[in-house]
Amino acid sequence: MAQPLVYGIDVGTTKIVAIAGRVNARRDAVEVVSIGEAPSRGLKRGVVVDREAAADSVAEAVEACGLRGQRVSVGIAGSHISSFNTEVTLLNRGRNLTITERFARKLEQEAREVEDLQEDERVIHVVPRGYVLDGAEGVKRPVGLAARKVTMRAHVVSGAVSSIQNLLRAVEDAGVTVGRVVLEPLASAEACLTASDRDNGVVLLDVGGGTTDIATFLKGALTHTAVIPIGGESFTSDLSYGLKIPHADAEALKIKYGTVLSGAVDSVAAVPFGGTHYNASFMSQILEYRAREILDYTRESLNEARVRDQAPGGAVLTGGGSLLDGMPELAETVLGMRARTAAPTRIKGNNKPVLKPQYATAVGLLYFGAKNGHSGPKGKGGGASSISGIVSAVRSWFRGG
Ligand SMILES: Nc1ncnc2c1ncn2[C@@H]1O[C@H](COP(=O)(O)OP(=O)(O)OP(=O)(O)O)[C@@H](O)[C@H]1O
Ligand SMILES: [Mg+2]
Repeated sequence: MAQPLVYGIDVGTTKIVAIAGRVNARRDAVEVVSIGEAPSRGLKRGVVVDREAAADSVAEAVEACGLRGQRVSVGIAGSHISSFNTEVTLLNRGRNLTITERFARKLEQEAREVEDLQEDERVIHVVPRGYVLDGAEGVKRPVGLAARKVTMRAHVVSGAVSSIQNLLRAVEDAGVTVGRVVLEPLASAEACLTASDRDNGVVLLDVGGGTTDIATFLKGALTHTAVIPIGGESFTSDLSYGLKIPHADAEALKIKYGTVLSGAVDSVAAVPFGGTHYNASFMSQILEYRAREILDYTRESLNEARVRDQAPGGAVLTGGGSLLDGMPELAETVLGMRARTAAPTRIKGNNKPVLKPQYATAVGLLYFGAKNGHSGPKGKGGGASSISGIVSAVRSWFRGG
């Protein structure tokens, strides 16, 4: 039977991507049926600063993709996002102690109601990381097993109510309905990582225009997420400032000649651009400085969460910013692990444009669109199933508020 069409909108800092596609029954490959793109306006570092401008941009992408009236999954990022690990324990009073889907959902609901949240924060994701059944560790899928005392360890992602509302309103102004909200690096991870990547232990780094988003996985489970408010746009602004040239010129220079490996650039080399010449070494120093800043923050974030030594699979870089020459090499140096750049994989059919790192989030949103919002953890094999237990309650409080 053909799978139903699902829809996503990645509201990026530099571009909006609307996407329609089908996820296969095993949920390990997608076919992209349609994609529409528009330059992003009205957003800064992942948050809406001008609702009308943002809605117009989204509408442009929606029209280009033919999504009007559909129910979509929307990506979210920005410095208002925070995340932490928590655990909740409940006693199973069910008949013959079998753990039901309903009981698993109750655990997730309980994790949503954690007290550490600020008043203006709401939970976006509760991602189960593993269960302890009557003291026995290491259970990934508890449903169907028997236990009296059940502990769920989970990674909880929350965001500022106002920022989430502003994003959802701008998207709905554009004529679609928001079905669920997805943390962008989780979507990118779905698109770029395999189940075995996530089993081995891996760091996903989505270097976008406005933010750099981190998600780490071990034994198939999400272990840490973070959003750093620096991205490809910062490289461009720095070049523009340093070389005293317009932003658009700096962007073109960066893409054509940019590298973050200043040591490899001849100190007197000059690059021709717009009728003049620029010092290639100076440019690379500016870019390397920023790149190191992003990677230093990343390393600190991994250290704080104690996950830097849990990534034998290394770092997987995606997002448009990962295309800057030398990024994986510099990441290896600064993070002390293997690194590579990745684009969406497991794409069926003939949609070549999406095979670029810039489309990782959009493609990944389709996997979330294909998940039943209320299903508990299930499915076979490692990674993908660890995210399938996510329940999105955002919609209900958004409606209410
Ligand atoms: N070939 C390239 N070399 C260097 N940088 C590039 C290249 N292609 C794109 N970029 C940069 O990638 C950035 C955009 O990346 P991407 O499309 O992933 O961001 P976004 O999704 O719009 O933003 P965000 O995820 O932060 O909201 C821009 O800063 C752009 O300059
Ligand atoms: Mg992005």
